[in-house]
Amino acid sequence: MTIHIVTGSQWGDEGKGKVVDLLTEQVDIVCRYQGGNNAGHTIVVDGVKYDLHAIPSGILRDNIVSFVGNGVVFDPEQFAAESAKLREKGVSVTPEKLMISPKTSIIMDYHKALDKCREAAKKDNKIGTTGRGIGPAYEDKVSRIGIRAEDLLDRALLNRKIKAALKEKNAMFVNLYGVEPFDAEKLTERYFEFGKVLAPYIAPTDFSFAQFAKGKKVLMEGAQGAMLDIDHGTYPFVTSSNTLSGYFALGCGLPFSEVKDNIGLVKAYTTRVGAGPFPTEDHGTDGEKLRQTGYEFGTTTGRPRRCGWLDLVALKYVFEMSGITSIALTKLDVLNDFDKIKVAVGYNVEGRKIKSFPASIAFCEKIEPEYVELKGWKCDIAKIRNYDELPQEAKDYISFIEEKLGVPVSIISVGPGRDETIIRKEYLSLF
Ligand code: GDP
Ligand code: IMO
Ligand code: MG
Repeated sequence: MTIHIVTGSQWGDEGKGKVVDLLTEQVDIVCRYQGGNNAGHTIVVDGVKYDLHAIPSGILRDNIVSFVGNGVVFDPEQFAAESAKLREKGVSVTPEKLMISPKTSIIMDYHKALDKCREAAKKDNKIGTTGRGIGPAYEDKVSRIGIRAEDLLDRALLNRKIKAALKEKNAMFVNLYGVEPFDAEKLTERYFEFGKVLAPYIAPTDFSFAQFAKGKKVLMEGAQGAMLDIDHGTYPFVTSSNTLSGYFALGCGLPFSEVKDNIGLVKAYTTRVGAGPFPTEDHGTDGEKLRQTGYEFGTTTGRPRRCGWLDLVALKYVFEMSGITSIALTKLDVLNDFDKIKVAVGYNVEGRKIKSFPASIAFCEKIEPEYVELKGWKCDIAKIRNYDELPQEAKDYISFIEEKLGVPVSIISVGPGRDETIIRKEYLSLF
């Protein structure tokens, strides 16, 4: 077995879908191991756009198994809608191509409702969640009152578990949020029906992914980005799972020892959706230009993404924790028309230089980034497929990133399409 990990190194939307799709040609299995349909991964193949949320990006190729690991929170309603859309576009979604761990946590209607009630009730401290029930579903998992995929197949068990989960929640819905309670019987029927649809995809209870993956090449598809990690991100403005690459092992049950590539996705600038610290955010014309040129609008919620410059302090912090072996630098073409490109190389807080990304968000909000300016290349690089053909200024930008982070850039993405990519195979064990 060999394992190749692809994770976002910023606040999400780095282009994981595009890069995972590109690399699927080289592997046997694509695995999602954390997060849920808060993710929105856009892939463009031959001009056709596919938006994936709950289903791993491997689904676009017929000879690959896509696996949804135990660390994921999975919404069966979203699965039904997403698989129908894929089929409309000619993509087959079959049990031969998609497997779900029996241990995967299920997102229930009450998780989505709770997520929305909580966000609506907050005044000036909204997280700006995707409203997909992610946090409440993970809470139930950790509280040991969650519903797992295999539970959907046993009506009596499902009913018992739903009743237990609703005990506290219905009290909250009625007394705290003033909304209708959930009916355990109706929910049992609804989710038992979902269970029938999911049954062929759910692996048997004695399934071992480690045994299944023996002798195969496995690509790990991260969701969100490292700075949204529940522990190491800008807490509490984070998602509810561990997004750092190290979590793959627990999120699907495979050993660390087989990791051959640990690819960190870095967008050539930075974006963030939702609230929370973003030291290099640009509120001026540059930020607006990045948003329009990069078409930075959320895949999941359609919200305009906040935009700003590359932040090498935040990236260094992430790379040190994750042990990234090479960088996939995406959306480099979005910088085509900038005279000068700014990059944050240090942080000052109240006149003092700080050493690493701070743990405290009160501190984060006082950060004044220290920038260097690099010269832009001012030409279209979208058609370039060889590193040597890139303009010198683009190569300088890449070298600057490599030098500061101490990791080579193995993939350079110059457009959304599968082929709009420069691959430096010498830095990847996958080829
Ligand atoms: P993900 O969540 O990390 O998979 O990223 P998203 O799919 O949410 O956002 C990335 C967006 O940028 C998508 O619309 C992609 O089609 C697009 N994209 C990916 N790579 C490139 C690139 O190199 N250049 C341009 N212009 N667009 C890209
Ligand atoms: P991909 O995989 C960008 C953000 C939300 C919000 C916070 C918490 O496409 O990169 P949640 O619904 O997870 O409880 O919301 O996390 N967020 C993302 N931002 N890309 C994502 O996924 C995200 N998934 C969650 O905007 O700020
Ligand atoms: Mg996205």
